[in-house]
Amino acid sequence: MPSDDRPGKRSGAAAVIRPYEPFDLPGMYRVCLRTGDSGRDATPLYSDPDLLPHIYAGPYPIADPGLTFVAVDDQGVLGYIVATADTPRFETWLEDNWWPRLREQYPRELAADPGDGTEDWLRVAHLHESRFAFDELYERYPAHLHIDILPRGQRAGLGGRLMRTLVGALRSRQIRGLHLGVGSGNPGAHAFYLACGFTEERRAPWGSTMVMDLRAG
Ligand SMILES: CC(C)(COP(=O)(O)OP(=O)(O)OC[C@H]1O[C@@H](n2cnc3c(N)ncnc32)[C@H](O)[C@@H]1OP(=O)(O)O)[C@@H](O)C(=O)NCCC(=O)NCCS
Repeated sequence: MPSDDRPGKRSGAAAVIRPYEPFDLPGMYRVCLRTGDSGRDATPLYSDPDLLPHIYAGPYPIADPGLTFVAVDDQGVLGYIVATADTPRFETWLEDNWWPRLREQYPRELAADPGDGTEDWLRVAHLHESRFAFDELYERYPAHLHIDILPRGQRAGLGGRLMRTLVGALRSRQIRGLHLGVGSGNPGAHAFYLACGFTEERRAPWGSTMVMDLRAG
């Protein structure tokens, strides 16, 4: 386990939350990878440590500035929350600005299972096959988010603080609702979202779609 990941070494309570700065991106990429296997460390699953964060962290602060917040302590980026206020517009932005160069960098031939247990190929398939499909859910809950905190910062209220920071930013833009997906293999995150005030809108074999009405409360 990397030294900065030891649970309890430092408390998330001591972390400072602030808006994203461009120099936070490498730290965010590390957090994304180290929490990317249903909340557990995904490092062993990837030959390329950047692939997963290229999809789930990197585009947000660029596509929708002002809706990424980081939690930092004296060891660097401890956690983050990334979001977009407008999922359809974000998906269009990805198609125009994000996927084309990544598709060049990771050609479709890499979307074949090498049979060694790594999952780079699944992420390459995702970036080639990702197509925007409108969902009526986006009318009521147009924003979506991802949140990740290293083990040493968990269960100290930091996730709740990050969530309240984002919800405040979305409310100040008068965004009406927020949704997210949580995998069925991550019951801790599911419990966290319920504790934050989300409700479960849909359940599927892969996991749950959870929603929050931002006009309430
Ligand atoms: C999920 C995550 C963001 C929660 O952040 P956190 O700082 O650990 O959570 P908080 O301390 O703010 O918890 C707030 C409340 O949520 C609930 N909760 C949080 N984590 C929980 C867990 N693992 N199991 C059960 N309930 C949990 C509790 O009710 C908790 O209140 P309590 O500590 O007083 O009991 C964080 O644990 C994390 O980043 N995990 C790894 C990455 C991940 O799974 N991301 C989500 C992917 S969908």
